Amino acid sequence: MTVLVTGGAGYIGSHTVRALVAQGRDVVVLDSLELGHKSRVGNVPFVEGNISDAKIIDKVCRKFEVSEVIHFAAYKAVGESMEQPLRYYNNNVAGTIALVRALMANGVEKIVFSSSAAVYGNPDHVPVTEDAPLRPESVYAETKAIVEKFLSSCESIGLRSVSLRYFNAAGASADATIGEDWSMSQNLVPLVMKALLGFSGPLNVFGNDYPTPDGTCTRDYIHVEDLAAAHIKALDYLNGGGKTLACNVGTGIATSVLEVISIAEQVSGQKVPHIISSRRAGDPVSVFADPTLARALLGWKANHDLRDIIGSAWKWHSSSAK
Ligand code: UD1
Repeated sequence: MTVLVTGGAGYIGSHTVRALVAQGRDVVVLDSLELGHKSRVGNVPFVEGNISDAKIIDKVCRKFEVSEVIHFAAYKAVGESMEQPLRYYNNNVAGTIALVRALMANGVEKIVFSSSAAVYGNPDHVPVTEDAPLRPESVYAETKAIVEKFLSSCESIGLRSVSLRYFNAAGASADATIGEDWSMSQNLVPLVMKALLGFSGPLNVFGNDYPTPDGTCTRDYIHVEDLAAAHIKALDYLNGGGKTLACNVGTGIATSVLEVISIAEQVSGQKVPHIISSRRAGDPVSVFADPTLARALLGWKANHDLRDIIGSAWKWHSSSAK
């Protein structure tokens, strides 16, 4: 009974590997190291390779007796995806199809998939529920929606899956040893930290004239360790015979950009240098989850609040920034 974690050397993957190990589960990580760091994986068995390499998947499944998979390995930069659709479809979609084919040839029929709230695009209603229409607005989000569909079609041939639709993953491990590298991310929290620590100019706040209480966009920030825990609950759900499912992983709380800045100032005791700039094209005003389904079917809920998220990010960035 070994869990194969693809992309386990990445940000969310490495936190999930830790959570699995902490529960005494057997784990093997497969990562191409194109974007991941091996140092994040710790002492867990590690194989360097690509998800589309059937020979490697075969070998790993046999050697480690893989029984289930958590699949993170993918490209995730939204802007880049619009410029390089071939690369994104090839890695995220074709790569996943090749992976699933090789897994099924080895009798592995349970997979937890790293999806994204980006599949909803700009939702008509918030909090957003899983039955909202999928209207991906980027190539990246399209690849996530297509893989969800592909996995759900594979239920008829025996594959069961949980697609976890992440909202805004943020924060770092409680011991401040792994976190979100700002050189690999355009997301708000690492950029706030970069500005705070003087590694960039002032943060650009993308618009303050939105119809929200303080005029800035709101999102659902979810602690990466809560997110990691959701993957384990999803595995347990599949091992308990659960059917294929797509499920939100968020807190249900909407937080504005200015609120993130304010908490970061309280936690660090310093001002976050920032300027109000124009709106970012395509930014939805407000996206936050209805997390009811995750609670009902996976028995999961978020345990950390925004202060924990920003506090852990600050601790990690301020001790490891270079
Ligand atoms: C991002 C991803 C999306 C992913 C989602 C959840 C992008 C464009 N989108 O969206 O695919 O599914 O996270 O993980 O990467 N902001 C600023 N200044 C900045 C950066 C961000 O004001 O320098 C604001 C944004 O306008 C937004 C909020 O901060 O209101 C969060 O932005 P970001 O971290 O990029 O996440 P999302 O836009 O939600």
